[in-house]
Amino acid sequence: MTAVILGCQWGDEGKAKVVDYLSADYGLVVRFQGGANAGHTVYIDGKKYVFHLVPSGILRPDVKVLVGNGVVIDIEEFINEVDMVARDVDVRGRVFVSNRAHIVMPYHKLMDKAKEGKSGAKIGTTMRGIGPAYADKIERNGIRICDLLSDNLEDKIKEAYELKEFLFKNYYGISDIPGVSEMTDYLLGFKDRLSEYATDGERLIADSLKEGTNVLFEGAQGSLLDVDFGTYPFVTSSSTISGGVFTGSGVGYVDNLRVIGILKAYATRVGMGPFPTEDFGEGGEFLRKEGGEFGATTGRPRRCGWFDAVLARYSLGINGVGEVFLTKLDVLDGVGSIKVCTGYEIDGKVTDYPPACAEELSLVKPMYVEYPGWDGGVSGVSDFNRLPKAAQRYIENLELLINRRITYISTGCERNDVIVR
Ligand code: GDP
Ligand code: IMO
Ligand code: MG
Repeated sequence: MTAVILGCQWGDEGKAKVVDYLSADYGLVVRFQGGANAGHTVYIDGKKYVFHLVPSGILRPDVKVLVGNGVVIDIEEFINEVDMVARDVDVRGRVFVSNRAHIVMPYHKLMDKAKEGKSGAKIGTTMRGIGPAYADKIERNGIRICDLLSDNLEDKIKEAYELKEFLFKNYYGISDIPGVSEMTDYLLGFKDRLSEYATDGERLIADSLKEGTNVLFEGAQGSLLDVDFGTYPFVTSSSTISGGVFTGSGVGYVDNLRVIGILKAYATRVGMGPFPTEDFGEGGEFLRKEGGEFGATTGRPRRCGWFDAVLARYSLGINGVGEVFLTKLDVLDGVGSIKVCTGYEIDGKVTDYPPACAEELSLVKPMYVEYPGWDGGVSGVSDFNRLPKAAQRYIENLELLINRRITYISTGCERNDVIVR
């Protein structure tokens, strides 16, 4: 059995909780894109874990985890995370990194910050060096895990850094930059640890499948941040959709891949870019407060608004989602009434498909239906029939709007706060 778990909005849908929950049935969990821009939170019996690179499946003692070739890796962050988990669970022999994955270099993070500072139209990145690292990968100028393990790391860094050094000094006006030997020494400090984890990731996946191990692919970010299908240019620099699984892990064709799409019961976004259903008033404030909507990586308050069925249908389509996992339903406890966007008005015309241009999407007028809320009683519920009637109706209405069955509902941040239908 293979499955992929994908965020279908702008990230922070609760992927880590869902991966932790579902990984009980899987033996290998694989990250296939993104980097330490992700902030993935899991609560187990009140203890909070925040992951940026390591798949949250690591918290299950029988699960192996692989950071795939499609991920850009901040090595120091990665090692820190493994050590953090190792304080609570035995991770020996369970952590793997693809030797083909690219490394986020110190100059990538500097470049990210410099670009955000300089450009007029800021993206509002996480400043984790993600865009510059992927740009170097595509430009064939990247440093990979296998380079760190080889004998010619310094030469590779020298070559990759030459133009950047020039840019820092002459374009960005930054002179306090690391030197080649300093960066080489910094990376070599992690060489022994990395050689423990590095492997041919694609072969590990193929061997696991051959042995009958169930493999789960863990998405980061969300479909609306996808570099092709998201609200470009206000996106991240990787393929966050299901298609990214193949290039980001080397799994090859998979028969019967379960594609599980996660949708939050409302919507949030961090950083810049169009957000048609954003609520700048009391509604948005309610969702931010009750949902604890503050970034797990940067601590930034998340922009909050209502469920957008136009974008949800679009996301489910580009991913080929078969099963929907709805999260954070409990956050709507006590909200009064709930708005859902069912279509857009653009220049007096109605459409049910998002325009490709971010500028146009930022100008659409969302058309809302309003559903009655409920006083409380969703938090921690694990049986659909015990949900308040209005909450049951809300789910059923969403199902009609997204043309999919909602097979799981999350009703709290703890591992077992889940309704299975
Ligand atoms: P991810 O990036 O998709 O893994 O999501 P984040 O960890 O960035 O943000 C989701 C937040 O919501 C985390 O703090 C989770 O602990 C929390 N969370 C997940 N599911 C639920 C839920 O059903 N209800 C509530 N109240 N919190 C949830
Ligand atoms: P998880 O996996 C929410 C956003 C940033 C910014 C844009 C580009 O926790 O859902 P980047 O640093 O990737 O170049 O920033 O993407 N972004 C996220 N927003 N959740 C995330 O990850 C995100 N990762 C990146 O805020 O708007
Ligand atoms: Mg997150």
